[in-house]
Amino acid sequence: MAKSAIMVMAAICLMSVVGSAYGFDKFFVEGKVYCDTCRIQFVSRISEFLPGATVRLECKEAANETITYVKDAVTDSAGKYCIEVEGDHEEELCEVFLIDSPRLDCNEVKTEVANLETASRISLTHKNGIVSAVREANPLGFLKADPLSVCPEIFKELGLNANGTANTDYN
Ligand SMILES: *[C@@H]1O[C@H](CO)[C@@H](O)[C@H](O)[C@H]1NC(C)=O
Ligand SMILES: *[C@@H]1O[C@H](CO)[C@@H](O)[C@H](O)[C@H]1NC(C)=O
Repeated sequence: MAKSAIMVMAAICLMSVVGSAYGFDKFFVEGKVYCDTCRIQFVSRISEFLPGATVRLECKEAANETITYVKDAVTDSAGKYCIEVEGDHEEELCEVFLIDSPRLDCNEVKTEVANLETASRISLTHKNGIVSAVREANPLGFLKADPLSVCPEIFKELGLNANGTANTDYN
């Protein structure tokens, strides 16, 4: 997509936030997509934010998992997306997850359940006391097929094992 088109999209999302200040039941889900260059599943100083990546917001009924809302978005030049959502989704489980990467060298998605960097749970209701219409999703990362050669240095900095795994019992 042309860079100018991407910038226009981002601007529209911002304008919508301002325009809806007095509206009801409208949310804006914001987040970033990055290339996980060391396959550590969190953002580090050598992560690269990904323009042109596709994410999907999906809401399901908490009771029976029926899909109630689906909306895709593409990241802008800074790897950022904004999804405008209609309606209050209090009784639903909503999350954003990765769909498509623009880079062949960085398009792997870890699919383990409860991996916060692969899918980000979002609360889309005002009934939980959160006033703001803007809801931040956790950064979502595609794994780079071949880790960068600088990764062992990064692991040392972060206090990880030489293979990039955490030095704790938490994983
Ligand atoms: C799923 O649950 C919702 C809310 O309880 C209900 O309105 C809907 O009819 C259910 N759908 C199915 C397929 O059971
Ligand atoms: C990574 O290294 C640690 C410590 O050297 C080891 O205990 C662990 O099994 C390794 N994990 C993998 C996936 O190779």
